[in-house]
Order: sequence, then C-alpha cells, then structure tokens
Amino acid sequence: MTQTYLKLNNGLEMPQFGLGVYLVPDGKDTVEACLNAFQLGVRHIDTAHAYQNERGVGEALKQSGLKREEVWITTKLWPTEYGEGQTLKAIDKMLERLQTDYIDLLLLHQQVGDYIGAWKDMEKAVASGKVKAIGISNFNEHLEDLLQHATIKPAAIQVECHPYFPQHELKKRMAEYGTVLESWYPLGHGDNNLINEPVFTKLAQKYGKTNVQIILRWHIQEGNSVFPKTTNPQHLRDNFDIFDFELSAEDMAEIAKLNSGKRYYTATLAEQEHFMQWKPAD
Ligand SMILES: NC(=O)c1ccc[n+]([C@@H]2O[C@H](COP(=O)([O-])OP(=O)(O)OC[C@H]3O[C@@H](n4cnc5c(N)ncnc54)[C@H](OP(=O)(O)O)[C@@H]3O)[C@@H](O)[C@H]2O)c1
Repeated sequence: MTQTYLKLNNGLEMPQFGLGVYLVPDGKDTVEACLNAFQLGVRHIDTAHAYQNERGVGEALKQSGLKREEVWITTKLWPTEYGEGQTLKAIDKMLERLQTDYIDLLLLHQQVGDYIGAWKDMEKAVASGKVKAIGISNFNEHLEDLLQHATIKPAAIQVECHPYFPQHELKKRMAEYGTVLESWYPLGHGDNNLINEPVFTKLAQKYGKTNVQIILRWHIQEGNSVFPKTTNPQHLRDNFDIFDFELSAEDMAEIAKLNSGKRYYTATLAEQEHFMQWKPAD
C-alpha cells in the first residue's frame, strides 16, 4: 500500500490521507486513536485548539517512537487567539501542548476576528521555523481580503467537502495560489444517506471495496487531502486501505452527478461571529 502526498505551494509534501480527531476526547481516546493510526502507517493528524485534544496528539507522537519529521501535524488557531502579538503567544502554547518544536500546518480555524493580524504573526512563525506551512479554514466571504493582505499565500484551505458539495467553485478561486483543498466532513460526518448512495454500493461491488472506501478514494482522486475521523480500529484500517485501486473516469463522472449543493453546516457570516464568544481552555 503506497500512500500519496500533495505538494504544497511552499514545496513541502503533505501525506494526502490522515486521521481527524474532532470530537475525540483528550487523553486515552486521542492517544489510542493516533497510536493506532501511526501503527498502520498513517502519518498525518488533523487537530485544533478548539478540539481540546492537542495534548493527546502530542502524547501519541511521543509514545510512537516516530521521528518528528515522519509525522505531519495540522492544528488550528481559534478566533479569540487572533491578533498581532497575541497569535505568536498562542502558537507557543500550542507547541507546549503538542510537545513539539514545530507545527507542520497551522490554520486559521474561522473567518472572524482579527484574522489579518493573526496571519502576520503566522508569517513570522514561518520565518522563525515554529510553523512550516500556513493556511485557512472555513474562509469564504473574507477569503479575498485575507489573500490581499497575505505575503505568504495559504498552502491549504480546509472546508466542508464531500460528493454532495465538491467545492469546485472554491478550487477555481484558489487555483492561482496553488492552495490545496482539505475536506472536512468527508463522509458527511458519517451520514448514512451519503454513505449508502446506490452509486457507492454499485462501485463497492465492482472494486471489492466498501462504500466508505469508494467515497474516500473519490476525495483522493479529486486531489483533496482527507482525514476521516474514527476511533474504531477496523474503520481506520478500511479507511487507509484505498491506495490499491483507482476509480475510472466514468465512475468519477457518475459520482459527480451527486453534486447537489447540499451542505451540512450552513451558518451565516453573522452567526459565525458567535465563535468570538467561546474561548478554548489553554
Ligand atoms: N475545519 C473545520 O471547521 C472542521 C470541521 C469539521 C471537521 N473537521 C476535520 O475533519 C475531520 C473529519 O470530519 P468529521 O469527523 O466531522 O466527519 P467524517 O470524517 O465525515 O465522519 C466521521 C464519522 O464517520 C464514521 N466513520 C469513519 N470511518 C468509517 C467507516 N469506515 N465506516 C463507517 N463509519 C465510519 C465515524 O464513526 P466511528 O468513529 O465509529 O468510525 C464518525 O461518526 C475531523 O475529525 C476534523 O479533523 C474540520
């Protein structure tokens, strides 16, 4: 099984497949999920300060015995940490929680608050080596404003993306920057309606794979980074077992017909301002 890598706009290579740990409790659960992933050969973990489990990720990294450079760690700053001066301090705290001296990919989690000030500090963190690559998550209305002010263009944009909402328009907006798309809710947050779509059942039979493996393989062939969350070891094994087959162009075209514009998360920009009212614990 040979996993694939995405070349970022700064030349770094990021493992295309990873494990997302949103809603995985910190401590034993996060440590076990990450260690299981590392044992299988998964080398990319997607966490965030808001998930409150960076400590578990750091602990797993330490216990794994892997060299730091063998693992790709993405984490995200919460809007209450945005602002020039303030964001650099927040990054230092992240490094402490993760027990590491650098972050592979650091994202702005949301498009509210002083994201320009935060970006300036993130650029400084790249210059000092504390962060290797920087990117954004959930940016839409404020995307062009961020891009205008950014000296370093985002290496990645992490957004909701699945066959119902494949984000082709956003990809066009980002094309000139070489920004990689990262899919959150790649399985529709485990939505059985998506997973059991007849086209996936048909293709699962054709390729001798599961419906979920077909969906994940679709993400890979769309060129997206994908890190489905699971705490189930068998699911994790299945999810990572997608590098020994390829969907044909006809099959990809058939899956494309599922594009209905359906999103699971539909908060307006005004509603997103509420993110400023919650502060993740240090
Ligand atoms: N930037 C953002 O704002 C943002 C927002 C949401 C998510 N994310 C990131 O994206 C990651 C993935 O999103 P998500 O966790 O919300 O949703 P998801 O990965 O689409 O779905 C996770 C659900 O699918 C189930 N699942 C996983 N593998 C399966 C399999 N092989 N067979 C059947 N069910 C399976 C999981 O249950 P089990 O645990 O039982 O397997 C879980 O209930 C997150 O962990 C996080 O890293 C980012």
